[in-house]
Amino acid sequence: MSQLFRRKPIAAPVDDIQDVDGAGGLRRTLGAGDLIMLAIGAVIGAGIFGAIGTAAAGQVGPNGEVIRMGAGPALIFSFILLGAACALAALCYAELAAMIPQAGSAYAYSYATLGELVAWIIGWDLILEYAVGNVAVAISWGDYFNTLLRGFGTRLPAWLTTGYRTALLSADPQIRGLIDTAPRIAGIPILVHVPAFSIVMLITWLLLRGARETARVNNVMVAIKLVALTLFVGVGATHLSAANYTPFAPNGFTGIHQGAAIVFFAYIGFDAISTAAEETKNPQRNLPIGILGGLAICTVIYVIVGIVLTGMVPYQELAVADPLARALELAGFRTVGWLVALGAVVSMSAVLLVFQYGQPRIFFAMARDGLLPQWAARIHPRTRIPSTTTLLTGVFVAAWALVGDAAETYDLTNIGTLFAFMLVSIGVLVLRVKEPERPRPFKVPFVWPVCVLSAAGCLFIMQGLPRTAWERFGIWLLLGLVLYLAYGYRHSRLRHQGG
Ligand code: ALA
Repeated sequence: MSQLFRRKPIAAPVDDIQDVDGAGGLRRTLGAGDLIMLAIGAVIGAGIFGAIGTAAAGQVGPNGEVIRMGAGPALIFSFILLGAACALAALCYAELAAMIPQAGSAYAYSYATLGELVAWIIGWDLILEYAVGNVAVAISWGDYFNTLLRGFGTRLPAWLTTGYRTALLSADPQIRGLIDTAPRIAGIPILVHVPAFSIVMLITWLLLRGARETARVNNVMVAIKLVALTLFVGVGATHLSAANYTPFAPNGFTGIHQGAAIVFFAYIGFDAISTAAEETKNPQRNLPIGILGGLAICTVIYVIVGIVLTGMVPYQELAVADPLARALELAGFRTVGWLVALGAVVSMSAVLLVFQYGQPRIFFAMARDGLLPQWAARIHPRTRIPSTTTLLTGVFVAAWALVGDAAETYDLTNIGTLFAFMLVSIGVLVLRVKEPERPRPFKVPFVWPVCVLSAAGCLFIMQGLPRTAWERFGIWLLLGLVLYLAYGYRHSRLRHQGG
């Protein structure tokens, strides 16, 4: 029993890094500005280009049942609420990241703070943030890609651009009707999202060749994202109508809350930059500026995009896969809509790359600790990357994106990520109590109120998700627990070291 809560000593992770790389510590080269750029690079993607539509318009199931209420134009309050909650969680991430700078992010932090069982649960849970999150990004990427193709006058058949789950769950009879009209193999309707599948396989291929996002590539991507959103705002703002803002909050606070629970996806990714803690100059100053600055900039951008989007067209029109491009099209700006779609496709490719890169490294960290089989910790001799897990992650994400539904995966990712944020916030407090003397390159200010509010904020946002998300999340955790008892518990390196 005591093994379940055994904590990995904090000194060990740092030694691990040096063992694997065969070199000393990382170089501190990043300033606050670099961190802000990294945050924008990882954060702006499918959330603001795709999930925002469902957050504003709400979602109805195939039988007309309300799955979630939309925020309407009051979406800006959802964004502000999320910005505040994420800022608190980000501070907690920063403290742990600066103290425990190791691959594996929240997994590594919880191993050192809350013990092995919680670490395993978080590692398992992070699959929802990284791999399942990328399923949603890939589907959104594919939908914007279709918008691009339409601009060239090309249209792929609907059965090649619609996943089976999307057809099954759609409230639109035309989309649901695809189940009857799609070609069949052995009686099974073929409804597949080929563009979503293809982009994941392409990114996987790039990663297997040893590609990694460099700061320079990231800066170019950030510039493209900002240009696309500026274009949207600049052109959209010429077509605002006061009538679209009434009613402002059609579903009151419930709509704002439930809208926030899905568009939370737009904020995911800032936690990834906390992993740059060991490469940051003067982390006590630069980490909070970088993380909070990045979040503040994204929040302001999101609020502005929200104001323009809901002012351009009635919010009910936004329940589509490519809401920004659609709003521009409806307002008569076809070419601009096409350009924004191009920006969206590039932005989301960058997000896909970041998370497809991160997932195998989390598996790697878990396998190195003995919680996953050793082949997952193997590094390819030439490219020096965890190639087996990179390929496995690619196939898993691509296959799910082929038949999956975006809204369903947004929900699952959000609940998993919020849960991880919650445990990280609690972890900071646990470690402050258990190891108050340990040097902390960055300390959360007003630690008790910040951590408690952060955990409570995450739980509150989680409560805005539909019941199905909770049920699936419960099943996912249960499955993880079974796997841990069957494998990780017995093979844990810490257990064998008697640590
Ligand atoms: N925040 C990232 C996105 O919206 C995951 O695509």
